[in-house]
Amino acid sequence: DRLPGPSVGGGQRVDAVFSPRSTYHANWTRADALKIEQDATNTAPLIPSDFPVMTDQVWIWDTWPLTNLNMQPVAYEGWNIIFSLTAPRDIFFGDRHWQAKIGFFYSQDAEHWTYGGDLFPAGSSRGSREWAGSTVLADDGTVHAFYTASGHDGGGIDPNDALQRLAHAQGQIHTDADGVWFTGFENHQIIAQADGTLYQTLEQSQAGPIIYAFRDPFVFRDPTDHRVYALFEGNNGGVAGSHTCDRSEIGRVPPGHVTPADARYYTGNIGLMELRSADFTQWKLLPPLLSAECTNQQTERPHLVVQDGQYYLWTISHMFTFAPGLTEPGEIAAGPDGVYGFVGPGLRSNYRPMNGSALVLGNPPEQPLQQYSHYVMPNLLVESFIDTVPTGPGPGDVVYGGTLAPTLELELDGATSRLAGELPYAYVPAEVAFP
Ligand code: FRU
Repeated sequence: DRLPGPSVGGGQRVDAVFSPRSTYHANWTRADALKIEQDATNTAPLIPSDFPVMTDQVWIWDTWPLTNLNMQPVAYEGWNIIFSLTAPRDIFFGDRHWQAKIGFFYSQDAEHWTYGGDLFPAGSSRGSREWAGSTVLADDGTVHAFYTASGHDGGGIDPNDALQRLAHAQGQIHTDADGVWFTGFENHQIIAQADGTLYQTLEQSQAGPIIYAFRDPFVFRDPTDHRVYALFEGNNGGVAGSHTCDRSEIGRVPPGHVTPADARYYTGNIGLMELRSADFTQWKLLPPLLSAECTNQQTERPHLVVQDGQYYLWTISHMFTFAPGLTEPGEIAAGPDGVYGFVGPGLRSNYRPMNGSALVLGNPPEQPLQQYSHYVMPNLLVESFIDTVPTGPGPGDVVYGGTLAPTLELELDGATSRLAGELPYAYVPAEVAFP
């Protein structure tokens, strides 16, 4: 299974690529996280509190473009199209998760968006709310929606219902001179559930400190073997607390570093499953690609950019989900809310953290919650949503965003990234045209 490639980094590290079906996984170690440092290359510019809002109808958060199986954002008959988690704008911003629905937006210029409403017919989706996923335009023009069926079917608005399963439905896209609409999406099927061995189940998670994950499917065709896979966010299988922090998870920490016992509860991973049927409904769970065990509980919305044979694996994470004991004296926390990245020579490979620590773009310390849910596109433009921007010194002096942030631009050089520019708010351009 092991295909050693050329060595990198002065011969100190050998590239290793494994079959996607093998059990090898890379680690995001405590030693990596201890290297997190913020500077101008990896810190988002401040967002002012008078940002423009895309629509007064709904809060908008996790957002993704219509993509083809090659992961490219695609314009359909000239229209740019994005999908967002949405909730009525008259509920409290923090309650949005429990009423989330996938909405869609279309635009000619990829910057000024028209809200098109819900993607699915009322009452058709699984779970009690729709969480993040991906929407893929297949080669035959069919649209395949993959999302997180969050909560139990018919469970209503219930913040204590943490069940998460992956679901699929297919539909058709239509356009005219005035806009875009969808039909179909009537038959929704659960396509994956946590198995308890590779991926933690809700029951197994119950002793853990933070909500567990089995969510956020990102569907793509691997350019190497041309098979279709999905990444998703999981936690390592097994009862919370039964894991142990071993040397490969701790890494080469500085002398004197102590791993607190509670770090074993933090078991975030980037999961993988493989498509086994032409209709996109049969999938097989494969072992995770990357484990953050003992480092971080949440590796959310994993996605991929493949450039010159290098696989760039992106994930978003929060300050509060880092495992304990990763804060050095004088620092506020291990790492900021933001997007983290790893690069490896194959889909399943010995990914190394970007910039030594994995931090790619974090929020500025003055505005630690200003934006989230970054999505890196193949052209290295990064969209995200505005979360909470302070307007004064008091704890209640904030304005909630619920709209897309300025798009940021990255530059990559091997395992190094750099913030290269700031573009307009909500700029999410397609990269290819269909048909
Ligand atoms: C990230 C996220 C996703 C999830 C959604 C729920 O912002 O936590 O992982 O699908 O938000 O609202």
